[in-house]
Amino acid sequence: MLAATGSAVGLGNIWKFPYITGENGGGAFVLLYLGCIALIGIPLLMAEILIGRRGKQSPPDAMKTLAIEAGVSPRWQLVGWVGVITGFVLLSFYLVVAGWALAYVFNAGGGAFAGASSDRIGGLFGSLVGDPLASTLWGTLVLAITTTIVIKGVKQGLERAVTIMMPGLLLILLILVGYSMTTGQFVHGFEFMFSPDFSKLNGSSVLVALGHAFFTLSIAGGGMMTYGSYLPKRVSLGKTVLTIGLLDTLVALIAGLAIFPIVFANGLEPGAGPGLIFVTLPLAFGQMPLGQLVGTLFFIMLSFAALTSAISLLEPAVSWLTEKRGLSRLKAGVLTSAGIWLLSLGSVFSFNIWEEHKLFGKTFFDVLDYLTSGWIMPLSGLAMAIFTGWIMSRAATRDEVGDGLGYRVWLFLIRYAVPVGILVIFLNAIGVLG
Ligand code: PHE
Ligand code: NA
Repeated sequence: MLAATGSAVGLGNIWKFPYITGENGGGAFVLLYLGCIALIGIPLLMAEILIGRRGKQSPPDAMKTLAIEAGVSPRWQLVGWVGVITGFVLLSFYLVVAGWALAYVFNAGGGAFAGASSDRIGGLFGSLVGDPLASTLWGTLVLAITTTIVIKGVKQGLERAVTIMMPGLLLILLILVGYSMTTGQFVHGFEFMFSPDFSKLNGSSVLVALGHAFFTLSIAGGGMMTYGSYLPKRVSLGKTVLTIGLLDTLVALIAGLAIFPIVFANGLEPGAGPGLIFVTLPLAFGQMPLGQLVGTLFFIMLSFAALTSAISLLEPAVSWLTEKRGLSRLKAGVLTSAGIWLLSLGSVFSFNIWEEHKLFGKTFFDVLDYLTSGWIMPLSGLAMAIFTGWIMSRAATRDEVGDGLGYRVWLFLIRYAVPVGILVIFLNAIGVLG
């Protein structure tokens, strides 16, 4: 359960949530996101962990076993496959951003932010992402650490890291919110996030909100299904899923509250894109008392949060290769990471030498993000909803969830709200609904 929390809370909350909220105009987007979390994300997180726990194997085999048990085609294992592959693709760009966070530990520790102007801080970020070699090296370091941990199969260390890191991260985010209150723009930032103006949404906002609900809760990335297979029967699924959902949402909202007042106080653009936290938070660390220490600790904890998520992205492929192909964890880990590393170069180059190479107006990095979060993950979510809601027997799902009101609410959501919600959002995104 701690590992699952570690998987959920990561860059999605602190890096991605604020920047996509900024790009999609604030309050109305936050409302859509919260709706997607409550009505689609939480029921699906339950479905995914349930499949893993009942199937007790890596995602493809867990799906296959349950499909055969329910008397349908074993081809349902495709859903497990898609999860493993999605994890692979996600990790290829996740590690690039995690590399930036790690690089910032040293920037913060070396006092690079002290009293710096927003131009200087912007320049610092620009020179990191603009340098393909530096970005590659930091990303490679992240991947090497992730792979080593996955190969060693570390579980206890991971859980201890989560119990220390999570409260620490929350504490520093609260300190940052405290700082934001002194900027004179706190109310402006608060209103930006919580007063919805639906005219600020654009055509793809709803799909982005849906995709982010998947990304931030680690749904359909294979990891939660794999962790589900390690989850003991006595642990309550409902409590686990609600705790993860609440904590994850809390971290994201607090991160937003810390960041947007700084954005407005410094005349920055909320829609600045993936660099948003790397050009706003350093300003705060550069100005607050003890900022050098607090900033260093913050980026250390952010790197840890990213690491526990990265581990859950790599684990599904490695667990499949060891279970089914009989590879050692060492071989499986090295093989998978070599592929991920190659793919990651495309994301590194998206911020420098390939910056101008675009497909449908998107860089390689944006395309991977858009395809996974916007389409592939919601599609496998749809499949998981149909599978647990309509194909698995009620006796089986009830046995996992436990009988009661919670089960009936979940069953209703997973059978109706989740599939209809996802379909409507898809139809809206391809323009069928006007
Ligand atoms: N949920 C993680 C985050 O918010 C990212 C992630 C996605 C991890 C999918 C695992 C699977 O940072
Ligand atoms: Na998250």
